[in-house]
Amino acid sequence: MSTSGIPSADLLGEQIASLLDDPATTHGLARGLRAAAREIELHRYHHTSRRAWPNGRIDDKPAKVQIGGGVHRIDGFFNIDAVPPADLLWDVREGIPLHDNTVQTLFSEHFLEHIDYPRSAKQYVIEAHRVLVPGGQIITGVPDAAFALSRYPGSLDTSAEMIERWYAKRNCLGDINTQLDLVNLVFRDQDDDPTYTQHLWAYDHEKLVQLFTEAGFTTIEPWTFDSAMANPKRRWGSVYVIATK
Ligand SMILES: C[S@@+](CC[C@H](N)C(=O)[O-])C[C@H]1O[C@@H](n2cnc3c(N)ncnc32)[C@H](O)[C@@H]1O
Repeated sequence: MSTSGIPSADLLGEQIASLLDDPATTHGLARGLRAAAREIELHRYHHTSRRAWPNGRIDDKPAKVQIGGGVHRIDGFFNIDAVPPADLLWDVREGIPLHDNTVQTLFSEHFLEHIDYPRSAKQYVIEAHRVLVPGGQIITGVPDAAFALSRYPGSLDTSAEMIERWYAKRNCLGDINTQLDLVNLVFRDQDDDPTYTQHLWAYDHEKLVQLFTEAGFTTIEPWTFDSAMANPKRRWGSVYVIATK
């Protein structure tokens, strides 16, 4: 049986794997192929869940939901992510698989910048509005582009703090270490290293307020960082808002 739901996508996945193994494959082609391979993998996970929930809505009605939490779980929250581990594997670019007016609290951090803007980001916020109960709230945190830009221009000394806090574990620091390199990372992340997924749009407080206002949220306020919910390593240099339906 097809694992992706599209036999030609399965075949393409096999062809991509073999091309990526081939030393004759050029660097540029390999970059494009890795991106396609990742999308096929996401499609496969999504398709498996979609087979279980063909109308795009799960039976459960969780009151607290985290989107794109990765390995960061929050007590009492139902976790939806495109890849394991999560309670439900779902590509949120295809919508949020929950019923209308059922969720009290939606939470995401360092997720929104990984989906394309405007199509998927705007649709995600509209979907969030649909699934929240009236008065329900969505908390959203992203890398703060205004913060990164406010440090530019700056000397190599001033980039050291950001490198230490955000990128210390990476092996790219011989190449990425000026303030402009760090601005680049906030806007695109490392698109040559499969360990990290690209940033597709950059946000600041103003942009988040505009997004949530356009989707019909009534109030949008800065959110006070709470490490009982948020990932402590995201505190520094991120911007969070809480929007109420
Ligand atoms: C940079 S990680 C952040 C993880 C966690 N929120 C944190 O702050 O440590 C981005 C997460 O978003 C998830 N993600 C990206 N695109 C997604 C999509 N289209 N649908 C669902 N989850 C997605 C990724 O799988 C990943 O777990």
